[in-house]
Amino acid sequence: MIVVHSKQELAEQIAEWRLHDEHVALVPTMGSLHAGHVALVDLAREHAERVVVSIFVNPTQFGDGEDFDDYPRTLERDKRLLKKTTADLIFAPDVKTMYPFGLEMATSVSVPRLTENFCGASRPGHFDGVTTVVARLFTLVLPDVAVFGQKDYQQQLVIRHMTEDLNFPIKIITGETVRADDGLALSSRNSYLSGEERAAAPVLYETLCSTGQELQNGRRNFAELEADALERLGNAGFEVDYYSIRRALNMEIPDRDCDDLVVLAAARLGATRLIDNIVVTT
Ligand code: PAJ
Repeated sequence: MIVVHSKQELAEQIAEWRLHDEHVALVPTMGSLHAGHVALVDLAREHAERVVVSIFVNPTQFGDGEDFDDYPRTLERDKRLLKKTTADLIFAPDVKTMYPFGLEMATSVSVPRLTENFCGASRPGHFDGVTTVVARLFTLVLPDVAVFGQKDYQQQLVIRHMTEDLNFPIKIITGETVRADDGLALSSRNSYLSGEERAAAPVLYETLCSTGQELQNGRRNFAELEADALERLGNAGFEVDYYSIRRALNMEIPDRDCDDLVVLAAARLGATRLIDNIVVTT
């Protein structure tokens, strides 16, 4: 496995693969890798001969007062982990490489509407930072395929929209959420949880599953189901940002007869913000 930090080294390696007609898949990450990221690498490998993993803690997607400075940076550990996978190359640029004109002068990519609600409302500017960096990674790597996790449901929808709208010739693939044995979605931010918070954290997924079960049973009073979930999460010590049943296709408000739903949640345990979702096909 190769580790590169510069655009030139990246371009040279990719050109060599292209010379041999090899397809390239990209898995963008911010590092602090876990089994969820590894599953995306495995999925990427099913779609291309070569897999690039980018590791870059992207400053433009963190708001003021968010955890950019504290975000875990574990490059040596990440390298060791990825060596055991089918990843071919790690691209680990610094801020200057990704934003050569500096953050103030950086060209921004912004998707409207889809980014207004949910995590976009709780974290203003967050998705502009995500689309801005992912567009840059796309133009640097020029992959055939890019893989994102369902765990960040809104993010993968926003990226699908950007990709189609800007005509990037890239197939977007969404990988399932990988969970701990007790159901908690793996996340680099789980390391912030205290022992007590970690013990309460699985209630988020349990609540999503209960809502999913009710939907499967034919209940369609969405507002009531959401209110039940808010109460359960509140009792478990969560401060809920949002809990919402939406159309899986575009996160719009569903009709009663919609049979492809997503239940989206974001909630804080202490200072740690957890997000999760489940897709429910009835
Ligand atoms: P990061 O949080 O590192 O996540 C990288 C990718 O891993 C994302 O596509 C995310 O959805 C996926 N992922 C996270 N937890 C997962 C889990 N438990 N199971 C499966 N996949 C999981 O998301 C970002 O970084 C950034 O916003 C990024 C897209 C890299 C842009 O900076």
